[in-house]
Amino acid sequence: MKRTPFIVGNWKTNKQAAEVHHFLHAIEGKLPDPSVVQTGIAAQDIFLHEMVIYEEQMEEPLQIIAENVHWADEGSYTGETSPAALSDIGVNGVIVGHYERRKMFKETNGTVGLKVAAALRNGLTPIIAIAEDTTRYNPDDIEMPPLTEIAVALAGVDRAKADQIVIAYEPAWAIGASEAPTMEVIEHAARVIRASLAILFTQEVADKIRIQYGGSVTPANAAEILAQPNIDGLLIGRASLEPDDFLSMVNDAVATTKS
Ligand code: PGA
Repeated sequence: MKRTPFIVGNWKTNKQAAEVHHFLHAIEGKLPDPSVVQTGIAAQDIFLHEMVIYEEQMEEPLQIIAENVHWADEGSYTGETSPAALSDIGVNGVIVGHYERRKMFKETNGTVGLKVAAALRNGLTPIIAIAEDTTRYNPDDIEMPPLTEIAVALAGVDRAKADQIVIAYEPAWAIGASEAPTMEVIEHAARVIRASLAILFTQEVADKIRIQYGGSVTPANAAEILAQPNIDGLLIGRASLEPDDFLSMVNDAVATTKS
């Protein structure tokens, strides 16, 4: 089953307006056709509208992605961002349930599920981040990915829309760290995740869902990670801040497109 790789930079709470422009300008005309490799940048809400307008004007294939969203389309939720409003301004997707949101902002599997449903309802691609919440640091240890997180997050997903979701597997200890797990651990986790998606939906749907790896991805390890059969993309934090690094990992995805 051919799945189009999806390379996403997660800028978190980094970059000011001028740096955002600098980055977009630096990658102009250098991104692959989205039928080969899809690319996206997740940025702070405050920049999203301008980024969408810029990319549309330049006819660039870069997807513009939010880092969080509220589950209600409208209402009295001071300080939250509506999924309908994100969709209305042309945002393409949203990261849901990133480990930093689960840990620092008390995001639960239940609210992640509501947000996934809200994203799909509004035509936004949900990138569902799942993480093993462990302080253990043992890159060689093969363990089960957090299947409860997946099952609860996907409980309300209609089978007809399930192939639109993206799963980002990010071991908590590898986020913001200096080392990614071994390739055996990454591929094993992705394989188990795909098997659980087949149980939740069907094998056919599971074979279409993209699984990204995230956590200490760099231009030095991206190609090897992307070569794993069940890995279909990357969710990249720090290494996505520099345009040349981002492009290098996008080009790795082009070079390793699987048949
Ligand atoms: P990192 O972050 O690449 O800086 O480890 C990844 C993430 O948090 O998505």
